[in-house]
Amino acid sequence: MPIILVLNGPNLNALGRRDPALYGSVTLAEIERRLRERAADLRVDLQFCQSNHEGALIDFLQANAAQAGGVIVNAGALTHYGLSLRDALADARLPIVEVHLSNIHARDEWRQKSVIASLAVGQVSGLGWRGYLYALDFLAHHQPAPK
Ligand code: DQA
Repeated sequence: MPIILVLNGPNLNALGRRDPALYGSVTLAEIERRLRERAADLRVDLQFCQSNHEGALIDFLQANAAQAGGVIVNAGALTHYGLSLRDALADARLPIVEVHLSNIHARDEWRQKSVIASLAVGQVSGLGWRGYLYALDFLAHHQPAPK
């Protein structure tokens, strides 16, 4: 079964209590549960990593990318300036879907730039927690040919 990596960056562990008007009231644990449920239907495996530390996200990618078939990433604020994470995502050479709960293009000017977007197959921004499910659905149907 293909493995999809699901990366969440800084502060996403606080979902549920973090500005619900912007990010919704669903916790990250609940999003992960909903993803697991959908993954079972789609016959893909998931590996989750949330960290508030850029290096931990990079360590996780380096350890797991070779066995994986895609990446769903919500890098939090690292989206806008996390060049080391960007390099690690590029090195992974996997299809990437970038997810944001809020619409980053309708927010502060500095949030409208993503250093990850040009690596990604696409971006889901502003559709709340369901964005993760849409990303999973896409990646489950767009797996790279076996190496
Ligand atoms: C976010 C948007 C980022 O600008 C912000 O720093 C986050 C969450 C989102 O999911 O909407 O932490 O990635």
